[in-house]
Amino acid sequence: MRRKVIAGNWKMNNDLSQSKDLITKLINGLSGQQIHCDVIICPPFTSLSEAATLVKDTTVKLGAQNMYFEENGAFTGEISASMLKSAGCEYVILGHSERRTIFGESDELINKKIKKALQSGLKPIFCVGETLQEREAEITSKIIERQVVEGLKEISATDLNNIILAYEPVWAIGTGKTATPAQAEEVHLFIRNLIAKIYTKNAAEKLVIQYGGSVKADNAAELLSQKDIDGALVGGACLKADSFMAIIKSV
Ligand code: PGA
Repeated sequence: MRRKVIAGNWKMNNDLSQSKDLITKLINGLSGQQIHCDVIICPPFTSLSEAATLVKDTTVKLGAQNMYFEENGAFTGEISASMLKSAGCEYVILGHSERRTIFGESDELINKKIKKALQSGLKPIFCVGETLQEREAEITSKIIERQVVEGLKEISATDLNNIILAYEPVWAIGTGKTATPAQAEEVHLFIRNLIAKIYTKNAAEKLVIQYGGSVKADNAAELLSQKDIDGALVGGACLKADSFMAIIKSV
């Protein structure tokens, strides 16, 4: 039985005081509650250290939203895996569609980042997903297969244990349009079968595959009840403690 994982991707939202406020509300709201999933928050870089202090000794885990694959050096504006570790991160989102489309990240670059994160003891939340055009052209599975195969190149089955995969159809991100539970389940099953082919059936059964794209309190339960949907990567609805907690409670 895979334990479900609910992660909040804050994106470029919340300054330091807003971050402290949101985390405090979340921790207070969750304390003493029966939580049946892992909870991860991914604030912006500038709030990570403070967030690490606030979530220490709570059930909430900390992740970052991106990193660069080099250890250190002349890479203006970039953040390394060891910097994230030292700030208290356990997870890092990699390959998010906003990184792929707005910042031009390739499968090859994402693969380098995933490898570096794993070597540094960070657990990647590795995102894949097709655009609306690709879905309409009926090449969703081809796109997902390419992103998964290229992203996981030269990654061992042991390392795969430390990866969470997130299926996020680009057309559902921030649009209010969610994939139907059946549409999402179809791709999740496709990914799990693909992992079984690349690795083993056992590795595929253990892999946590989150769904992301306009997940809200009122659609989370149905999505999460699908056999191969093991959690959610939440954007907009994680920016308010109440709506994020409602999703956590729907598990
Ligand atoms: P959304 O974002 O929930 O606002 O659609 C999800 C994501 O991009 O991870």
